[in-house]
Amino acid sequence: MELLSPRSGVSQIKPYRPAQPEGDGRSWIDLSLTVNPLGASPKAVNAYRHAAAQIHRYPDPLQDGLRRAIARTYDLDAERIVCAAGSDELIQLVCLAYAGPGDEILCHENGYQGFQKAARVAGATPVVAMERDMVVDVEAMIELAGERTKICYLANPNNPTGTYVAIDAVERLRAGLPAHTLLVVDAAYADYVRRNNYSSGADLVEKTDNTLMVRTFSKLHGLAGLRIGWGYGPVGVVDAINSVRSAFNVSVPAQAAAIATLGDAEHEERTLAHNAMWLPWLTTELQQLGLRVYPSVCNFILVRVPTDPSLGVPAIVEHLARRNILVKTVAEYGMADCLRITVGQEEENRALVAALAEILV
Ligand SMILES: Cc1ncc(COP(=O)(O)O)c(C=O)c1O
Repeated sequence: MELLSPRSGVSQIKPYRPAQPEGDGRSWIDLSLTVNPLGASPKAVNAYRHAAAQIHRYPDPLQDGLRRAIARTYDLDAERIVCAAGSDELIQLVCLAYAGPGDEILCHENGYQGFQKAARVAGATPVVAMERDMVVDVEAMIELAGERTKICYLANPNNPTGTYVAIDAVERLRAGLPAHTLLVVDAAYADYVRRNNYSSGADLVEKTDNTLMVRTFSKLHGLAGLRIGWGYGPVGVVDAINSVRSAFNVSVPAQAAAIATLGDAEHEERTLAHNAMWLPWLTTELQQLGLRVYPSVCNFILVRVPTDPSLGVPAIVEHLARRNILVKTVAEYGMADCLRITVGQEEENRALVAALAEILV
């Protein structure tokens, strides 16, 4: 008798492991996840509370109010927007809609983990292009694209590297990919980027009929716990995602809070000002401690730790844990000697640097 087993791709997926030890009741300075250190907008929290009176109802399956609010804020066409339970869900849904066994999904070496997972869940094969010093190499991606490439995922900027590629490189990538390959630009951290040669990908969506941009409310807007992401793409792609998604995938409080946060420019400005101050501060401090810091345009940084085993990743993580500080190891990305550290509140950043100085100086 044949034993029950999941599809082969599924057994290759490693379940997500949080940095925090299981069942641990300690109160941590948690710099392991790339969330907003200032929390959610008070307007979003208020809307969430008000939505409590409506949670016996199903959410709006057309996501009308939310799509219109996104369209107004980013000056986009609401008809080409689709929302999901986090951008993670969108990354998955688009793969399920376009790829299956025998198809290839193009990813980049240190690219966001959700891409390869999406490929495997769909039964497709991830194909991984090498990067150059933690930066996406679009030429290497183009080289690997072929007849079977259904989707090319590009995280721009990328997590966990924090690096980005300029608009001309993204355009070269689009032009170099086959027309039947959907380019999915995951711009989860777009709001943080302050570079003249960067674009979130929205203009490429307008100019082409095979590009999808994916965004999230989890980062700048601090709504990671509510699970809301959105995509902007050609009508056909949006229709395909709408066909695959559960009709009620974005909850009543999530839709209400997301609409409210888009009306809170002050919260956005405070968040961006905080990041603009503490990202360079952390970068300089960590460099002064002898760590290699990759140039980040996000709300986190990737650092390479010394090769000396007594100062390697396990020793540093253990020492920080003794000081109640959590950071993210990235061994699952093949970067066993790196750590990803998110910008925290002022006192958290100072505590991190002080704790690192105890062992690195
Ligand atoms: C590059 C990137 N894309 C997508 C996501 C998924 O975000 P969410 O599902 O919370 O929208 C993350 C989360 O860390 C990310 O870093």
